[in-house]
Amino acid sequence: MKSLILYCSEYKKNTERIAQVFAKKANADLVNIKNLGDIHIEDYDLIGFGSGVYREDLSPKLYKLVDNLDIKNKSVFAFSTSGVGMKFYNKKLVNKLKSKGAIVKGSFACKGYFSAKEFTNVKIFDLLGKLSQGHPNNKDFKEAERFINKIIETIK
Ligand SMILES: Cc1cc2nc3c(=O)[nH]c(=O)nc-3n(C[C@H](O)[C@H](O)[C@H](O)COP(=O)(O)O)c2cc1C
Repeated sequence: MKSLILYCSEYKKNTERIAQVFAKKANADLVNIKNLGDIHIEDYDLIGFGSGVYREDLSPKLYKLVDNLDIKNKSVFAFSTSGVGMKFYNKKLVNKLKSKGAIVKGSFACKGYFSAKEFTNVKIFDLLGKLSQGHPNNKDFKEAERFINKIIETIK
């Protein structure tokens, strides 16, 4: 089985650290989409798409990439890191993957550290920023491992 992890991680490399866990467990090629070269999507049996959350959404660059790939009938999964760590941020990506005819095997999310004062004065984000400190942590990495292992099992 050949796997590929495509990710966008522009802030603190939180998403990259999760992508690395997936890549290690799945023995996957790991590609930061800012360094995207020629990718031969047809070579892969499983493709993971991930991004940090930037102002309530994943990176537009990731959506654009998905738009341009032929992933019909490919097994795929979505992942993100965000201050709140909720899976709902993956919904739009999951829907896009489905609309391209891909088989969505799962959706993963965890918290990723951010410092509110770097980009907002809105008070609630101070608290969310504090709650996100130290993430992704060992527990998040373990959950990422469990997530990818389950997917690998269904594809083997
Ligand atoms: C400009 C900016 C906007 C953000 N907006 C949100 C947001 O709307 N919701 C949220 O939960 N986290 C938000 N965050 C926190 C990031 O999603 C979090 O730190 C994530 O782990 C960043 O991933 P990265 O380090 O891979 O880029 C934001 C961070 C930045 C820098």
